[in-house]
Amino acid sequence: MIRVLFVCLGNICRSPMAEGVFLHLVKAAGLENEIMADSAGTGHWHLGENPHRGTQRILAKNAITYTHRSRQISVEDFDAFEYFVVMDNVNLEDVLALGAPAEKTSRLLDYAVHTGVEEVPDPFYTDGFEEVYRLVVAGCEGLLACIRAEHNL
Ligand code: 4NP
Repeated sequence: MIRVLFVCLGNICRSPMAEGVFLHLVKAAGLENEIMADSAGTGHWHLGENPHRGTQRILAKNAITYTHRSRQISVEDFDAFEYFVVMDNVNLEDVLALGAPAEKTSRLLDYAVHTGVEEVPDPFYTDGFEEVYRLVVAGCEGLLACIRAEHNL
């Protein structure tokens, strides 16, 4: 099983959205027995909460069924996942400082250079869930293509 952990700050907006979108793509590709995903936050403010209403709404609007409770990343995760996929440069610094293996860590939009955007912006303050969704889909499509190529799937 190939294991992917999406990481953002609060684990209520961006990384749960990425997890939901990615799992939807994995299922559509018939790869749910080969690839699993989870998400976590670097912060601790929202532990146990459902995804933000904006994330729930945009996933539902796109017929993506998904449930998640916010959790914080822990050192045990570093042995349990093969891909650590963060949303922005602060997440990147934070997970590397916590001990995430650099060779397994990347930003979601590293897989979608055609967007011309390097970081998934935080919609918690801006309410920009539509734009974030567009970027998350592009990143998840690129990530899945990369994993399929790396693992001959
Ligand atoms: P996320 O958004 O990292 O995409 O889940 C945020 C959620 C909560 C906070 C910040 C960002 N917060 O400061 O509580």
